[in-house]
Amino acid sequence: MKNFFSVEDVPNVYHLIQEAISIKQKPYDYQYIGKNKTIGLVFFNPSLRTRISCQKACFNLGCHTWILDLNKDSWKIEMNDGSIMKMKQEHIKEAISVMSRYCDILAVRTFPNLLDRDDDYKETIFKKIMTYSQVPVINMESATLHPLQSLADLITIAEYSSFFKKKSKVVLSWAPHVNPLPQSVANSFAQWISKIEQIDFVISCPKEYHLCEKFSLKSKIIHHQNEAFLGSDFIYAKNWSSYLYYGKVIQKDYSDWMITEQKMNITNQAKFMHCLPVRRNVVVEDSVLDSPNSIILQQAENRIFSAQIVFLKILQFLS
Ligand code: CP
Repeated sequence: MKNFFSVEDVPNVYHLIQEAISIKQKPYDYQYIGKNKTIGLVFFNPSLRTRISCQKACFNLGCHTWILDLNKDSWKIEMNDGSIMKMKQEHIKEAISVMSRYCDILAVRTFPNLLDRDDDYKETIFKKIMTYSQVPVINMESATLHPLQSLADLITIAEYSSFFKKKSKVVLSWAPHVNPLPQSVANSFAQWISKIEQIDFVISCPKEYHLCEKFSLKSKIIHHQNEAFLGSDFIYAKNWSSYLYYGKVIQKDYSDWMITEQKMNITNQAKFMHCLPVRRNVVVEDSVLDSPNSIILQQAENRIFSAQIVFLKILQFLS
């Protein structure tokens, strides 16, 4: 693997999941491969899990790492070409080019602006980053995708389904939130899960919240949450903002979309998933998050191994 932007960079998703599960058993087996290598982690947006799991993955592989939080630790970055830079001190062109000279792999997080749908869905910023970097680039969440999260999600589902031996019904359920959030986790999950034949995948969302067809075309969509939940083995809750009414806050009460214990009771004793951070009692009830069927912490732990297997593949490519 030369770069890791989306699932399309992965030759075989089943193999990658299997290798991630193996590396989880013996996380320090590849320390030789990271010797004298540096992975730079660059954040244009906040993070807890991505930042620390990637740092731990680097440690497991024997790599050095440095982290830059561009919100706090550096110059203000100008993203647009041709601008007269009176307000911002550094252009993304120099910033990325320079940072890529300080590492062997550059991992970057950038969120959408949620104003201009075309601009976000063209991945204008991430494409610039890939152009200006002189080393391989890893997507730690871009305007439309969060592939390290999706890989961790599939590792988790694989662990709880005997590596997809049993046909499972997985429901990605939209849930309410107080702010408009990116669509990246949901887009990416739909894209990755479409590669797994043994999964019956359903998206449950209000009609105003259909995802972009590019990612959800192969997915079954059910607008009634209870109907979608019937017989399901995994419920993955996530809020995302409207693709149709892009960047707009829809003034409607969606609180009855919150995931409750009552709704979980109509599933096939489904495992509950969420990528975190999660707003308790807005997105999902306490009793669901705290139940024995909640696998949110296992899912978060698997972020280490999704990052580690991707870093390993790129380090192997470089060696
Ligand atoms: N799930 C996830 O990406 O978490 P962070 O935003 O904390 O990195």
